[in-house]
Amino acid sequence: MSAWVCTGIGQLAVIPQSPQSNSPDDQLGLIPDAAMVINDGKIAWNGPESDLPGQWANLHKVDLKGRVVLPGFVDCHTHVVYGGDRLDDFGRRSRGWTYEDILKAGGGIHTTVQATRTETVDNLVESASRRLERMFGYGTTTVEIKTGYGLNKESELKMLSAINSLKGTQPQKIVSTYLGAHVVPKDANSREAYVAEVIETIPDAARAGANFVDVFCEDGAFTVDEARAILDAASAHNLKLKMHVEQLGRTGGTALGAELGALSVDHVDHASDEDIKALGKAGTTAVLLPSAALFLGHTKLPQAANFRAHNVPIALATDCNPGSTPVEDLGLIASMGCSLMGMTPEESLRAITVQAAVALDLQGEVGTLEPGARADFAILSKDSRDVREVPYRMGASRIAYILAQGHTLGVGPGEMGYHETSLLKYLSELPGS
Ligand code: NIG
Ligand code: FE
Repeated sequence: MSAWVCTGIGQLAVIPQSPQSNSPDDQLGLIPDAAMVINDGKIAWNGPESDLPGQWANLHKVDLKGRVVLPGFVDCHTHVVYGGDRLDDFGRRSRGWTYEDILKAGGGIHTTVQATRTETVDNLVESASRRLERMFGYGTTTVEIKTGYGLNKESELKMLSAINSLKGTQPQKIVSTYLGAHVVPKDANSREAYVAEVIETIPDAARAGANFVDVFCEDGAFTVDEARAILDAASAHNLKLKMHVEQLGRTGGTALGAELGALSVDHVDHASDEDIKALGKAGTTAVLLPSAALFLGHTKLPQAANFRAHNVPIALATDCNPGSTPVEDLGLIASMGCSLMGMTPEESLRAITVQAAVALDLQGEVGTLEPGARADFAILSKDSRDVREVPYRMGASRIAYILAQGHTLGVGPGEMGYHETSLLKYLSELPGS
């Protein structure tokens, strides 16, 4: 039996799906001096240690000696499978080119498409594994990965097969999104022909394990009408919808996402008040991606208050990709949510856990430590006393240990420079690991 119990938790942040009140501590479900029981890779019980039920009293125990425990992070928007890099774009932008200039000149996403098409599945899996390992070290235990660098049926399905390999080999929970509609590839016969190819590929993508369909709706990518045709086809195959909208300017993508009941609309940097109101009515999650704006030198960032005013659920993600943001640390994104978008520390923590799970239709399964959820959790450094240190310590991650399903152990930057060997030893000797 692989059951064990964490005792001596100084502060447990359960991050409940439905907080009991609006108070900041309730938003995070904080329990001081807590214990947590892990059974078969899931949370079986949590609460004050003094209330630990007798049935669990004889389990293998790991005493965390006062450390903070919180759910593993959920990165609900990434593009971590790709070939090559975009160092040349990075240099060009520093010499005055914009992201749009580079894309129009045939670089940008097209550069990554060329590098991804010529890569083997094994090499794509290998390079993405390194990125996912570092993300694990930063505390991320669930990752959404998009296609979108193949841009023909064969190469898009190759990307899905790389993602399927990662699903079977990485400790993280991985879900995949078919983003055939990233841009029209250079070698397409026409826009119309490519949109038709994307639509035709949707059933194959579903069979190849894609959980969602996404469209980059933007000037230079796909129009609102093209997006509608693609997303209608996705709905007809029972795939839930995601969109890249209003990243570079306002095109009407957010309103379309709300109208079609998309699971999430992502970026929304240029969404209007009307757009945001429509999201609130539809119950669509806004996924904010601050590092994409920051990396590209954009100054217009969406403000949390505008979304809060219309009860729009907010999630945060890295958008980790070679072109517009290579950031892998979701804790850093929570800091940006607070400093650049006016989120409270509690909102930012919910946005990288329980709200991000909603954006992936995985509520209750990940992003929370309520009983029944996967035992994916992080333990902060010895010198951390409160979970709000995650957004507070900007760029100085305090994630020390990460457990996926209560048995696969990772060590994070919070343990850098010294090793409390006893805790590392106890954690690496867990039953079933
Ligand atoms: O979310 N906007 C479109 N897609 C990505 C960028 C992809 C790339 O530049 O390679 C984004 O920012
Ligand atoms: Fe993206």
